[in-house]
Amino acid sequence: MTQRGLARSVRLFRLFLREQTDPGLFYASLAEDAVSQVAAYGELGGKTVIDVGGGAGYFTAAFRAAGADCYLFEPDLDELLSSGPVSDGTVKDGVVLADGYWLPVRDGCADICFSSNVLEHVADPIGLIGEMIRVTRPGGLIYLSFTNWYSPWGGHEMSPWHYLGSRFAERRYRARHGHAPKHHVGGNLYRVHIGETLRMARSLPGAQIVDALPRYYPRWCRFVVRIPLLREVLTWNLLLVLRRTA
Ligand SMILES: C[S@@+](CC[C@H](N)C(=O)[O-])C[C@H]1O[C@@H](n2cnc3c(N)ncnc32)[C@H](O)[C@@H]1O
Repeated sequence: MTQRGLARSVRLFRLFLREQTDPGLFYASLAEDAVSQVAAYGELGGKTVIDVGGGAGYFTAAFRAAGADCYLFEPDLDELLSSGPVSDGTVKDGVVLADGYWLPVRDGCADICFSSNVLEHVADPIGLIGEMIRVTRPGGLIYLSFTNWYSPWGGHEMSPWHYLGSRFAERRYRARHGHAPKHHVGGNLYRVHIGETLRMARSLPGAQIVDALPRYYPRWCRFVVRIPLLREVLTWNLLLVLRRTA
């Protein structure tokens, strides 16, 4: 169901609370929401979409349901085959085991290059964005979102203890759960900041910023992204939309 404004944000937050108990519902709904966000920038029917780091395929499935030709690129076989559209056969073809730094496709082949919550999991965000720009045609869109480090969810399953430092957060998680957290800061989770990312995006050759907004909030909350320091804590997750220039 498509909702807007605050009702949408409240619904997403409620779904987020069910991530552990009903991951299928959570990811399918999040994917549907992201796809309708992308559709706000132009019709998706017949468009070629590349889903970078698409995990188990929820976003690819949602793009296809919206009429796009979507291809899934994911480097981790375990993620790809974890419970979801790829493993249950909903997404059968157009699935490639590949790293987002080196997408095995020609320059400018995609109308839209999409990546949800991948940037904070790579050591070289500029490298990933550069590759996303390369595969997008001039005039096409690059949609990427990430959970910024000082977001209340910045430490992922270790949150909110990451505010006291990543070492402390990891130690506390281990003591509490008896095993290491899924994420290791500096290994598969990195501190990504909004101000830094915006400055980097402005200086990127081959793309210009179309939009920068808190992904899960109503559009009128866009002003938050313009307030240094506060934006790092309040944004939760930044959505950055770029347009490939000629
Ligand atoms: C938090 S999951 C996000 C999955 C999905 N996009 C979503 O929003 O639910 C992060 C994903 O990034 C992938 N990833 C990590 N490093 C990557 C890289 N270098 N290139 C592409 N994907 C990568 C992981 O394998 C994982 O599937």
